[in-house]
Amino acid sequence: MKLSSFLHFASFGIKTVLLRKKEPILGTVIVTDKCNLHCKHCSVNNITAVVHPYEKVRKEMQTLYDLGVRILFFCGGETFLWRDGEKTLRDLVIEAKQMGFLIVNVVTNGTFPIDLPEADLILLSLDGDRERHNTIRGNTYDTILHNISKATADNICFYMAINQINKDCVDHVCRLARDTKNVRAVSFNFHTPYPDTKELALSREEKKACCDTISRMMDEGCPVFNLKSAFPYLIENKFPTPCHQCLVIEDGKISTCGRCIEVPGLCEQCGYFFVAEYTLLFRGNVKIILEMLKTYLKYI
Ligand SMILES: C[S@@+](CC[C@H](N)C(=O)[O-])C[C@H]1O[C@@H](n2cnc3c(N)ncnc32)[C@H](O)[C@@H]1O
Ligand code: SF4
Ligand code: SF4
Repeated sequence: MKLSSFLHFASFGIKTVLLRKKEPILGTVIVTDKCNLHCKHCSVNNITAVVHPYEKVRKEMQTLYDLGVRILFFCGGETFLWRDGEKTLRDLVIEAKQMGFLIVNVVTNGTFPIDLPEADLILLSLDGDRERHNTIRGNTYDTILHNISKATADNICFYMAINQINKDCVDHVCRLARDTKNVRAVSFNFHTPYPDTKELALSREEKKACCDTISRMMDEGCPVFNLKSAFPYLIENKFPTPCHQCLVIEDGKISTCGRCIEVPGLCEQCGYFFVAEYTLLFRGNVKIILEMLKTYLKYI
């Protein structure tokens, strides 16, 4: 990370903690909800299947920038399905950097060729070993690993949503992150139980077992882009929600934290690690602050 970016985030953090501010720093643009997959745990694909036009997406990026967002995510649906005429996702990433976003990340299912060296991180969903991943995501595991091997930069970070199907694959994905070319780390979430996927949620004991495994893997030298100090809060679902420093914009509509904020009762069962990590950070949790400094400087 550049020193100027680090100083911006440090000053934002200090102001937010000391003055209890609620201004945003992290934003997500949903470029489409269209998707080529129908994963078992996902409730947000192909609801409209509209691919938003370039001008609209650009305006949404500018809106987030003007609100103070400096860490930008492009997400979907399948993000790599986005295009408008000659413009591709890569153009959006380059434009976001030119606009002044300090960190620009993309979330993808990894089924399309990966040529996005300008992105700081490509969060690529991998949901277990071949058997469990394919059970959740269809027959895509081998295609994804092939695309990773051919990627044009080493900016990939696995992204695993842990649920009832793949809860025993945490160590597999950690080791694969350590041993696979072009992969820098792995980042986890627990399944967030939307009304149509409640049966995939983990119990408190199952979350604890997963966190114990992740900690053990970190001790073994596996690159995990999460904060150990947030695990106790994630296990008990005892972290503040929603994240006021996070915004998402989809089809012109801005929501605080996630699209899921509209689902009644979901925030109390939130499994998104970034929510725990950011809300605890901005409450001034000292262990989280120190671990975040160490982790972010290592992986971005
Ligand atoms: C909605 S997808 C969009 C980007 C891309 N299509 C992908 O699969 O990475 C973003 C991430 O959300 C995760 N996800 C979907 N539904 C979830 C849920 N109910 N709880 C936790 N994570 C979920 C997916 O596994 C994926 O890692
Ligand atoms: S690939 Fe992503 S958006 Fe598509 S169904 Fe799976 S999790 Fe949902
Ligand atoms: S806290 Fe609520 S809005 Fe935020 S990600 Fe979790 S469920 Fe969604």
